[in-house]
Amino acid sequence: GITRHYKFDIKLQNVTRLCHTKSIVSVNGQFPGPRIVAREGDQLLIKVVNHVSNNISIHWHGIRQLRSGWADGPAYITQCPIQTGQSYVYNFTIVGQRGTLWWHAHISWLRSTLYGPIVILPKRGVPYPFAKPYKEVPIIFGEWFNADPEAIITQALQTGGGPNVSDAYTINGLPGPLYNCSAIDTFKLKVKPGKTYLLRLINAALNDELFFSIANHTLTVVDVDAIYVKPFETETLLITPGQTTNVLVKTKPNYPSATFLMTARPYVTGQGTFDNSTVAGILEYESPSNGMHSSISIKKLPLFKPILPALNDTSFATNFVSKLRSLDSAEYPSKVPQKVDKHFFFTVGLGTSPCQHKNQTCQGPNGTMFAASVNNVSFAMPTTALLQSHFYGQSNGVYSPEFPSTPIMPFNYTGNPPNNTMVSNGTKVVVLPFNTSVELVMQDTSILGAESHPLHLHGFNFFVVGQGFGNFDPSKDPANFNLVDPVERNTVGVPSGGWVAIRFLADNPGVWFMHCHLEVHTSWGLKMAWIVLDGKLPNQKLLPPPADLPKC
Ligand code: C2O
Repeated sequence: GITRHYKFDIKLQNVTRLCHTKSIVSVNGQFPGPRIVAREGDQLLIKVVNHVSNNISIHWHGIRQLRSGWADGPAYITQCPIQTGQSYVYNFTIVGQRGTLWWHAHISWLRSTLYGPIVILPKRGVPYPFAKPYKEVPIIFGEWFNADPEAIITQALQTGGGPNVSDAYTINGLPGPLYNCSAIDTFKLKVKPGKTYLLRLINAALNDELFFSIANHTLTVVDVDAIYVKPFETETLLITPGQTTNVLVKTKPNYPSATFLMTARPYVTGQGTFDNSTVAGILEYESPSNGMHSSISIKKLPLFKPILPALNDTSFATNFVSKLRSLDSAEYPSKVPQKVDKHFFFTVGLGTSPCQHKNQTCQGPNGTMFAASVNNVSFAMPTTALLQSHFYGQSNGVYSPEFPSTPIMPFNYTGNPPNNTMVSNGTKVVVLPFNTSVELVMQDTSILGAESHPLHLHGFNFFVVGQGFGNFDPSKDPANFNLVDPVERNTVGVPSGGWVAIRFLADNPGVWFMHCHLEVHTSWGLKMAWIVLDGKLPNQKLLPPPADLPKC
């Protein structure tokens, strides 16, 4: 591989959407941010310079970061944030991944405007396991807030209530024609007839899983989270925040007398308030040169709209994810661990914590504050980075290795909510010896409404070996696990009112964050960390921190 250099200048930029102009935190004045393009095996050196008053940290979502945890990016986990006027060079190499990933800010809610695609091409001379597409197009879904997202989450955390929802979903930063005064802010994909396009889809929305479809065009899924899958066709797909999906789209053989909308809108199973609006972009066939259609007649062509599943269509969602299988070919065999050294069972879901206001009630359930937890522990962010504390052997007063391996409050996850929904706070981690083979079952608690949780693990890909509804049954369910070709990825939806089982090999020493990729749930504490110890061999050792690593 080669070394590629990028420079990210973090600065303010005025952007207008929905007839509303505001100053956003941006990379190089671009929104969405710049695209990173590299090949498998390349080294990336990305210099991030902070010119704004916010603290900044950037995460390279899904990059394995083999022994390069200092470059992972979650603030207060692997590094202290980059302060105003400071810079930091993220230095990492892409190993064993090809497809689409993305980068985003990993501090507070700054990722609402600081995000962009990472395109990973195969090594030079190595073909895709499918016919070479005519063109490749990143499509990144986001959420636009007219208000300042930093103010929204600050207020929600102070009052204990739910934060205001966004004002629009976006495709490549654009809301599209179904929103007020946004017809000019529409993403247009111009295509030629009879060609195959590779769309690199990324869900960068803060708080919503999304359905996506293109009218009258079939999507062939070929890669998720930068790992090839067995190709399958679908009219609509589901993509949760954090996930990426590569699809092939074959255009019509002849110039059609129509244009086509591509739309995305949420899949929501909870009862809370949410934005149920729809973002649309346009798939437009380029005018053929034979003059049959002038550009004026294109505008008059009928517009076809896709039909998306109902907002709460769980059977569609379940059916879709069950089709995802790793390619498991001779070149790309599945590496699903066949044996398990350590089993974990985590409940993930919402809860409450006591109101912290003396003279007024909080806006969460029954006057409490909303909280969220893993095994009833709501993660308290440390004020120094866990990776540094770990590396220098200074865990005292920063974190404890006592993360519970089973829930503190057992109850029937599908029955009535428990009387006590209170969670406890703590900075607790799981410590694993090098190369531990882990099986983790994550069960949605369904407290305060069933909602699915896209859980994201840093530093690893995992294999989704099973999933189901109701309570996980350790005596029956493992018999049905797929240990042949389970999908390999970095973010998985724990189904609403159900469970998911994953396996991964802890072969990457360091401190690795795991959290719900619904930003509001992360803010409420649905997060924890794994520490993987060094191996005995020198090449398994954690490297010392780079000299420019930011200080707290
Ligand atoms: Cu994409 Cu820890 O996040």
